[in-house]
Amino acid sequence: MRILLTGGAGFMGSNMVQYLLKQYDDVEVINFDLLTYAGNLENLADIQDHPRYTFVKGDIADARAVEDVVSKGVDLLLNYAAETHVDRSLMDPRAFLHTNVYGTHTLLEAAKKYEVPRFVQISTDEVYGAVMEGESDEKSPFEPRSPYSASKAAADHLCHSYHISFGVPVMVTHSANFYGPYQFPEKLIPLFVCNLLEGKTVPIYGDGQQIREWIFTQDHCRAIDLIAQKGNAGETYNIGTGERLPNLEVTRKLLALTGRDDASMVFVKDRRGHDRRYALCSQKLRSELGWKPQMAFDDGLAQTVEWYRTNQPWVARCRSGEYQQYYQRQYQER
Ligand code: TYD
Repeated sequence: MRILLTGGAGFMGSNMVQYLLKQYDDVEVINFDLLTYAGNLENLADIQDHPRYTFVKGDIADARAVEDVVSKGVDLLLNYAAETHVDRSLMDPRAFLHTNVYGTHTLLEAAKKYEVPRFVQISTDEVYGAVMEGESDEKSPFEPRSPYSASKAAADHLCHSYHISFGVPVMVTHSANFYGPYQFPEKLIPLFVCNLLEGKTVPIYGDGQQIREWIFTQDHCRAIDLIAQKGNAGETYNIGTGERLPNLEVTRKLLALTGRDDASMVFVKDRRGHDRRYALCSQKLRSELGWKPQMAFDDGLAQTVEWYRTNQPWVARCRSGEYQQYYQRQYQER
């Protein structure tokens, strides 16, 4: 079985490459990744010479590069390639449209042309917008509120349209916020862990009472695997854990795990259009495909902090180059 996994050098993609090679003896994984700022082949150093693993550097919006791979035969396409950081989308939306919208479209075209039999689109709960009460289920309307979530919503709509119009067997997944080892230190959990381990402060947007739902990498890998094998083409699946916490509570847990106190928290200007709460109903995935999360948030958080503690050189390499410019710019804008 040949799997084309796009974005396999990123956080979630690289975790999935590792998962697939460990889990199955008969899969071949082609990692197609542009190696932008958040892509890091170091995440895959231990499998770079694996006989069933190939790396191809390329842009998913480049039709020729995509067709080069897909034309050789692909049994499953997992689209992890995406620009994912909301704050970056507020500063530079164009890259989000390029990769998330045109990139997904290019993959769908290739899947249509070469009749790829399974396609899973990795997407986010953010397409549903802020949910002030209750939960978003698969039938909830899309109400994206940031350039990032708007680009993912557009891509998800394209996926459905390609299923309806052309019969491309694509499934769309909306996931809660990921966390775990190897996550680039710009999102809440890895940024705060790295700052705290280095004795720096952490910037809390607004009042810190915004609520996010959290899922550990491995639980997400198992969900995607299940959906790829048993999901119905054209369907949408939410992947949620019910582990919903205000950012301030997550921060306090991180302070405790790193031996810091409230003095490390700095309340800064709120994010523009900051979504107040996300909450997913994942009953469909649980009842139809038998998935449930295995990692409790406190355990996953402790493992994550431990990983960053023992991988400081990895963090230092992430935090060099373009990273400094990004933070400088964000700092000025605040
Ligand atoms: P983030 O990790 O960027 O994920 P998303 O916005 O896609 O959910 O942010 C998670 C929450 O943490 C969100 O409510 C914004 C907040 N946040 C901060 O308070 N400070 C920060 O420095 C970052 C990056 C996020």
